[in-house]
Amino acid sequence: MSKFNAVITSIGHFLPEQTLTNFDFEKFLETSNEWILERTGISERRIMDKRIINKTLPLNESLGVSYIGTQAAKECLEKRGISAEEIDLIIFCTVTPDMFFPATACLVQNNIGAKNAWGYDLSAGCSGFLYGLIAGCQFIKSGMHKKVLVIGADLMTSILNFEDRNNCILFGDGGGCVLLEPTEENFGLLDFSCRVDGSGGDFLKMPAGGSKNPPSHETVDKKMHYVHQEGKTVFKFAVSRMADVSAEIMEKNNLKGEDVDLFIPHQANIRIIDACVKRMGIDAQKVMINIQKYGNTTAGTLPLGMYDAINEGRLKKGDNLILSVFGTGFTWGSAYLKWGF
Ligand code: UT7
Repeated sequence: MSKFNAVITSIGHFLPEQTLTNFDFEKFLETSNEWILERTGISERRIMDKRIINKTLPLNESLGVSYIGTQAAKECLEKRGISAEEIDLIIFCTVTPDMFFPATACLVQNNIGAKNAWGYDLSAGCSGFLYGLIAGCQFIKSGMHKKVLVIGADLMTSILNFEDRNNCILFGDGGGCVLLEPTEENFGLLDFSCRVDGSGGDFLKMPAGGSKNPPSHETVDKKMHYVHQEGKTVFKFAVSRMADVSAEIMEKNNLKGEDVDLFIPHQANIRIIDACVKRMGIDAQKVMINIQKYGNTTAGTLPLGMYDAINEGRLKKGDNLILSVFGTGFTWGSAYLKWGF
């Protein structure tokens, strides 16, 4: 057994200022505020660049997801009062990197001046941040590293088809960053359970742009560079897998509903969250929900959930925290943390 646990010691975030409300969608899509709110729990989401939905606006210098990650990382470092030069490793979890390569982790490393760090991107969709957190913790627990940044961020509006009412209403832009450090106390990541099932790959994907379907006029014409999702199928898997894995992590650690202080689930649909909460037997007051404000920010949902929970005074040192996710792949998982600051 390692003598170190890996604990989150600081957190930063970034959300673009511009919002896109359900009422905004009513202006150009056959949809309604009532439908979106009732079927998903979402009222509005943040968007980086309004030009994405209104091509007549002047062309901006577009800010990629590296901007979200950079701002979140800067806030995270500032809050801890340390210099970027102390960072050993940056893991950037995203499915909307600035470019396929170089990795967005490298761009952030340069932007923040983390001269002594290495880094890489991690692609696991909505499960990305949890997977990155678990990976980062292993570098700390092994004693190899003392300070690791894990960023979960997505600029989903860059890959949404705003004519597809099934999907474009679901997602938003934003993300956060945590700092991991070693502790000899019983805080931090205590357990996790993760799975993948590649048979679900076709149900939630971006079909083109990679080596299988390289970009061409045809792939653009066929709108293959956007999120394609069979919502109903993904919904069914998400409800059962996320509820199962959340219950499993509680059972493995002998946690009853009353032992959990806060549950932060991935924010994809309020009905998926409700099903998990019911299965876990936890009080609705102990569930972090901010989907109404941000929509599904993919790898951004967990760090944004933690950030809001701290600001609202709902997460304090010693609290038992459960995180659960489900995303493309399929990927899913759950983690048990004892909050450390
Ligand atoms: O984070 C990664 C994982 N992703 C998810 O977890 C998302 C999972 N899926 C979902 O959240 C839900 O399946 C959706 C919110 C995408 C859809 O909700 P649903 O209750 O499964 O609706 P549905 O697909 O069964 O559609 C019901 C009806 C359809 O009309 P018909 O065929 O019954 O006439 C849709 O065409 O609602 C229609 N519809 C809409 N109506 C108004 C679909 N999108 C909209 C819309 N506004 N935006």
